[in-house]
Amino acid sequence: MLRAGELVAFPTETVYGLGGDATNTSAIAKIFALKGRPASNPLIVHIASIASFSNVADLSNSTIRDRLEALHPFWPGPLSVVLPKKQNITSAVSAGGDTIAVRIPRHPVALALLKAAAIPIAAPSANPSGYVSPTTAVHVYESFGSAAPFILDGGACEVGIESTVVSLVDAEVTVLRPGAITVAMLEKVFGKVAVVSKSFTSEKELLLSPGQLASHYAPRTPVYFLSDIDPTTLRGRIGCISFSTFRPLPEIEFAALTTLSDSGKHTEIAENLFAALRAQDKLDLDCIVVDACEDIGLGAAIMDRLRRATTGRFQHTNRIDFKKPSPSHSTFSDPDIVK
Ligand code: TXA
Ligand code: MG
Repeated sequence: MLRAGELVAFPTETVYGLGGDATNTSAIAKIFALKGRPASNPLIVHIASIASFSNVADLSNSTIRDRLEALHPFWPGPLSVVLPKKQNITSAVSAGGDTIAVRIPRHPVALALLKAAAIPIAAPSANPSGYVSPTTAVHVYESFGSAAPFILDGGACEVGIESTVVSLVDAEVTVLRPGAITVAMLEKVFGKVAVVSKSFTSEKELLLSPGQLASHYAPRTPVYFLSDIDPTTLRGRIGCISFSTFRPLPEIEFAALTTLSDSGKHTEIAENLFAALRAQDKLDLDCIVVDACEDIGLGAAIMDRLRRATTGRFQHTNRIDFKKPSPSHSTFSDPDIVK
């Protein structure tokens, strides 16, 4: 199907991807159309082995080649690198630009698919543009319904959040999107790396990584950090996503309470986060309140995704007015505990 220019959704260790032949302009056009993705936002190309980097990237620059070589131990794994693009890759993949993001996923189904197809596969996360990334095959199906592509079901994704994106083409090695390959791991390799700051709003940042729009990863239900709200003003059906068994706001009866990890372990929080956001987004809640963690290591990637969720463009109806005093009676319905 991939060789015939069709799309195939497949599991990776991070999230499910919506794959198409990276050398086929019409396959790439199908990806953008199905996702409703802006043509200005480039895709990540997936390859099966280190040897294949030279099929998709121009490695004539020795500094870039050396940087790439230093990262070999991270593959297969949740790391994407931005490199100069080779001519044979359609510029639709790179949104017209002359660089290309590439990674070798470590999920056995993804690797088997890449080897069998024997082509580079461009694959963004398999969700409509701007919505939460899918971490199960069912999430992919729910996102696209009757328009869903062929889906390879490889179970739930182990990492649960998208790959770290690192640019090797800038003056300094630069982290464009935090992920499971952390800044500390990269600094062990390179000494010091630059990190694109966390506000995601400046024009410079959008140019650096066009896909890093603030509205990414947002459920339709408004999402707020627990630390940003005045609990006395909460009313309606409130969902809560907590990072550990510590239960926040004991005075509030949540309509849904999801615990991502018994012990607050970052790997478990990342693994379960998107499924929890999707599950609570289906419950017709007035808002979802979420926990926070320290902004280091994998925690930085978790907080990055949550900051985007809390500023998402899908927050069209803010049904909670935090400025008004809370009503004297509670309107909470029976709790629906989702674990
Ligand atoms: O974990 C992942 O990376 C998943 C799985 C399927 O591999 N894919 C994924 O793709 O998250 P997507 O398209 O949802 O996110 C790709 C990110 C976007 O932020 C995009 O702007 C950035 O990578 N990107 C892609 N090509 C780029 C380039 N040439 N320069 C800078 N950023 C680039
Ligand atoms: Mg995405």
